[in-house]
Amino acid sequence: MDVRSFKSAEEIAVAAADIFCDVLQKKPNAVLGLATGSSPIPGYTELARRAAAGLVDFSAARTFNLDEYCGLSLKNNRSYRYFMQHELFDKVGIRNENVHFLDGLAEDFDAECARYEAELAAFGGADLQLLGIGRNGHIGFNEPAKKMHAGCFRVDLTDDTIQANQRFFDCKGDVPRCALTMGIGTILTAKKILLIAAGEDKAAAVYGMLRGEISGQCPASFLRTHGNVLILLDESAARLL
Ligand code: GLP
Repeated sequence: MDVRSFKSAEEIAVAAADIFCDVLQKKPNAVLGLATGSSPIPGYTELARRAAAGLVDFSAARTFNLDEYCGLSLKNNRSYRYFMQHELFDKVGIRNENVHFLDGLAEDFDAECARYEAELAAFGGADLQLLGIGRNGHIGFNEPAKKMHAGCFRVDLTDDTIQANQRFFDCKGDVPRCALTMGIGTILTAKKILLIAAGEDKAAAVYGMLRGEISGQCPASFLRTHGNVLILLDESAARLL
């Protein structure tokens, strides 16, 4: 794994945007696996700046997001679909018909997960998969567990994750208890993986991912089984390495 440490969120944003631009330059209709949360925001802002300046073209890009809460519609401003529309899609001109998302309002979650998995596979998998990491080492919504999932699945969120994501909601009680997510196996089908971690509260998870045992205790540790992973850290997140 290629692990790089930076002094500021701005430097990470530039490095992340460089990777996206490189992928899109080589393949304008690249399949981009995207992530939500605070970690990708500076990179999305940098991509918006470059798109406005005509330095990168997203008009043919196809996107597949990692995960979505159960029970929230795309119009709900706490849904990941809404987040992506406002943080990236509108700003860089990604076409609606090129956006792919797990439907948190689906009547049959298992069928919805199978549909999404098959759709991504039909597109040949992601050319680039962007990831953040949870404090407990989760990626997407693959929470620590004895057994990891090969494909997309419905997950009950852990209390730690609910608490961590509470900041995007009015109160803890408003955070959905379950979500749909790409499985570890789905994530590992990406040709290239880019993970961003910033802040002191990610240091233990980053240590587990890079130095701990490869196990379900730290789902991100499975990234070590992939041959093309780039990790961008700030100094606080890299503190225990
Ligand atoms: C959520 C998302 C993850 C994300 C994580 C960390 O749980 N499902 O995809 O990586 O939060 O988010 P943040 O970057 O805000 O710390």
